[in-house]
Amino acid sequence: MSVAKKEYKRITVKSLIDMKSRGEKISMLTAYDYTMAKIVDGAGIDVILVGDSASNVMAGHETTLPITLDQMIYHASSVLRAIERALVVVDLPFGSYQSDPKEALRSAIRIMKESGGHAVKMEGGKEVKESIKRILNAGIPVMGHLGLTPQSIYKFGTYTVRAKEEQEAQQLKEDALMLERAGCFALVLEKIPAKLAEEVAKSISIPVIGIGAGNGVDGQVLVTHDMVGMTHEFNPRFLRRYMNLYEEMNKAFTQYGEDVKSGDFPNDKEQY
Ligand code: KIV
Repeated sequence: MSVAKKEYKRITVKSLIDMKSRGEKISMLTAYDYTMAKIVDGAGIDVILVGDSASNVMAGHETTLPITLDQMIYHASSVLRAIERALVVVDLPFGSYQSDPKEALRSAIRIMKESGGHAVKMEGGKEVKESIKRILNAGIPVMGHLGLTPQSIYKFGTYTVRAKEEQEAQQLKEDALMLERAGCFALVLEKIPAKLAEEVAKSISIPVIGIGAGNGVDGQVLVTHDMVGMTHEFNPRFLRRYMNLYEEMNKAFTQYGEDVKSGDFPNDKEQY
């Protein structure tokens, strides 16, 4: 059981802000289903993100764009049934908030009502400011997401590091400040230079959670299936693999296949 697990019965948006002010780092991982969420929550991870990366990891799409609001709600409700302690943040999927603030609010309300999620996350800076304000006015906590924002992959053209140039870095700093002022409770920074991420984390009072953004931020997030090595083809520099589950599972499935074919499974003790 982690140290943090003893400190908090339930993680809230306020606990995260307290953690930042105490200098305690925040841990965050993704989950899209009940079984994985139960393991992640049981390990004392502070925040579970029902990410739209489910589009890649669970559904096999090339990008996060195809996943729908209904599908996100399905994943989020499965996760929520498993949770005892973690704060659960649910991604607003592409197309559910970009067109206008009223639609953004409707989508956020559906997530909160139908899945029981505790907060929503949305990608973007000044272009989504009005939507963020409207959602916050309804009492729904919002986590921002800047840097590499995968819902805009066709605008960027590649998944390479963002904000290396001065102009984009300056815009990112302004957007981070705007998100804090608008009332976001936290911010994800994805795949940007570590120095820039640290500068942003120091310049705002809300927690900054990084993925490929170095160690000078207030917490870290990884996609669970990547860090346990189930997705073995994705190998960015920022990813630390804690297990090689692809290999372990492959061995188990191969052995099972052989045991069935040879008649070794089930044995006398494995039947009625
Ligand atoms: O969808 C997701 O998993 C994310 C993380 C990579 C931050 O947004």
